[in-house]
Amino acid sequence: MSMHNDMEEILITEEAIQQRIRELGAELTEEYADKNPIIIGVLKGVVLFYADMIRQIQVPCEMEFLRISSYSGTQNDGGIKVHQGLSRSIEGRHVLILEDIFDTGHSLDFTCRYLKEMKPASLKICTLLDKPERRDPKVTLKADYVGFTVPNAFVVGYGLDFNEKYRNLPYIGVLKPECYNKKEQ
Ligand code: IMP
Ligand code: MG
Repeated sequence: MSMHNDMEEILITEEAIQQRIRELGAELTEEYADKNPIIIGVLKGVVLFYADMIRQIQVPCEMEFLRISSYSGTQNDGGIKVHQGLSRSIEGRHVLILEDIFDTGHSLDFTCRYLKEMKPASLKICTLLDKPERRDPKVTLKADYVGFTVPNAFVVGYGLDFNEKYRNLPYIGVLKPECYNKKEQ
């Protein structure tokens, strides 16, 4: 059965995503001109956004990835761990974090603290989605660049998953309620 049939609603179309990435790309190209930034992607949800975004940041840059634990299914288990760290030093460098979604904020808060200890010259955040209604009030961190603000619904597609599925959809959508209860295949 097609993944598309599992969608209750398409929240952000492929065209809207690509258009917003071009706009953000223009801003980031200006921000990082002559800074040779290290652009850090938080795996795995960021993969599609990262690949599209980096092509619109038209300055010399370096790519790094961080893999941290996050949700399993729809539940955040709380404890965040680094599963895969950086391959080299970011000390004294301009660093841009790319993230899929700023939800409770625990992941980004953790990521920022972790990276700040490595003494970058600057550290900014660009998140594709922001879901402010879900933010933990203890998290005071703000994203410097936001693609879209989304309502308080669990979303999938364009890198975001439900139980590791739907990451390869080219748009952001909301699943039909019955799809959350489907048996693993
Ligand atoms: P946090 O709650 O801000 O720490 O977000 C943790 C991670 O949970 C994000 O980086 C996403 O990978 C995942 N996540 C949060 N909200 C959603 C959602 O609506 N759909 C899919 N994944 C999500
Ligand atoms: Mg993520």
